[in-house]
Amino acid sequence: MAGRRAATVLVYRPTEAERFASLVRAPRGVTVHAAGSPAEAEGVIARADVVWGWRVPPALFGKAERLAWVQAMGAGVDWALVPELPPRVVVTRSPGLFGPWMAEYVLAWCLWVTQRVDAYRRAQADRRWAADVVPERLGGRTLVVVGLGDIGRRIARTAAGLGLRVVGVSRSGRPVPGVGRVYRPRALAGAVAEGDFVVLVVPLTAETRNLVDERVLGAMKPTAWLINIARGAVVDEAALVRALAQRRIAGAILDVFATEPLPPGHPLWALDNVVVTPHIAGPDVPEDLARVFNDNLARFLAGRRLRHVVDRRRGY
Ligand code: GLV
Repeated sequence: MAGRRAATVLVYRPTEAERFASLVRAPRGVTVHAAGSPAEAEGVIARADVVWGWRVPPALFGKAERLAWVQAMGAGVDWALVPELPPRVVVTRSPGLFGPWMAEYVLAWCLWVTQRVDAYRRAQADRRWAADVVPERLGGRTLVVVGLGDIGRRIARTAAGLGLRVVGVSRSGRPVPGVGRVYRPRALAGAVAEGDFVVLVVPLTAETRNLVDERVLGAMKPTAWLINIARGAVVDEAALVRALAQRRIAGAILDVFATEPLPPGHPLWALDNVVVTPHIAGPDVPEDLARVFNDNLARFLAGRRLRHVVDRRRGY
């Protein structure tokens, strides 16, 4: 990539766009615009060389005549890899930031289950001394980590440190430190059958859409919990609702949904064995994301190779 002295950067995200834009280290010649909606981006997108964004509407990409590079503010890039994005555009992502957060999320909710948090809180509300409710050990349980990228590996290490047995699923099936056994995707049903907890942390691609279907859910133990911190569409949501309602699995901790925000009438809200969190397992810390962007922006302006480039064909 040739170096450049001038560039127009569009910072796009539905919330806090101005705040993120204020963190861009722009040398002279580089102009930065913030937009929180398609209407706000409308006047800039045709001349933007760079988009630093999150969930940019595909229609905007269709109008991006000069766009050379999209830096995603996040781990997942499914929203960027759309047919409207011209093939010349390089997409980069922000790995390495979310693993520590998501490992705490996963372990916190595993402990919420085994420490019987809800039961004690309910008993307390009734002023009942619940000595009949006893916690269980998390250590010794099996966690199945589906997806062993940087986030999945961090979850695996943290879980192994707490004494869990960790089983993994990855495309390559290659061994990973801290993971007892790594299965390939075609053996997914066999892998989840081992789990007391199954965490999904794969990118959403053509191969992973509806990966967890009726058959995979049917292979889980009736005592197992599903934790989805990947994308809602990785799971067949209708099949999940049925499995939960019929108690064919113990429950689900869900941070992501096919439609977000989860619509008020959705059956998942009403199931007592479901925890709904609003896509917060890996929060966006502006300063952390800006560090990744500013490093890549300096490379872009100098005509150097960008870091964390996505393989558009592979989808991550
Ligand atoms: C959030 O969902 C992300 O992809 O970073």
